[in-house]
Amino acid sequence: STCRVLALSGSLRHASFNTALARAAQSLAPQGMDIEVATLHGIPLYDGDTEAGEGIPAAVQQLKAQILNADALLMVTPEYNNGVPGVFKNGIDWLSRADMKAIFAKRPTGIIGASMSGFGTVSSQAAWLPTLKLLGVTLYSGGSVLVSRAQNAFNAEGALTDEATRKNLGAYLSGFHEFVRLSKAAKSSAQ
Ligand code: FNR
Repeated sequence: STCRVLALSGSLRHASFNTALARAAQSLAPQGMDIEVATLHGIPLYDGDTEAGEGIPAAVQQLKAQILNADALLMVTPEYNNGVPGVFKNGIDWLSRADMKAIFAKRPTGIIGASMSGFGTVSSQAAWLPTLKLLGVTLYSGGSVLVSRAQNAFNAEGALTDEATRKNLGAYLSGFHEFVRLSKAAKSSAQ
């Protein structure tokens, strides 16, 4: 059956390279993999008083439903000051309050990213690791996509035009597909 993947962009910017990378993944998805692109729009800053009062915000609940509806999560992270962008961390923090076990525990998860420096989110991807470990995701480590100098890899319309990057992303997605397929098969045989 088709593997459904939710690609979550960690940038709110309309012309975001990371959202563009998520869309490129969607268009390069191998046969048998269906990628939906999601964003963090509408999620407020985490506030324990909001949580205790109104509860989990609607935008968080909606994203939770999208994640639960997919077989795997593909995080598409920018890099700010060598670390994880606050916007993205905030979204994951809210989601962890919404139902950490159901949303993250054992969920097949990949992490890719694009940045404007020569290092292509290597630092932010590494900075995510302690959080992903705590959340208990099953992290794909069979490849990496670190899009450096993103301003040269995408055209003005946000299409991924750099051939080497397209090839690497395609190879990453093939490996990720196999990883998600195996985890789905293991899950269904355990039931
Ligand atoms: C950046 N940028 C950046 N790039 C990088 O490669 N390493 C870094 O440490 C940083 N630091 C950083 C801090 C802050 C506050 C901003 C706003 C930006 C540049 C970053 O790669 C660039 O803005 C990307 O375009 C961000 O991703 P999106 O929004 O295009 O997806």
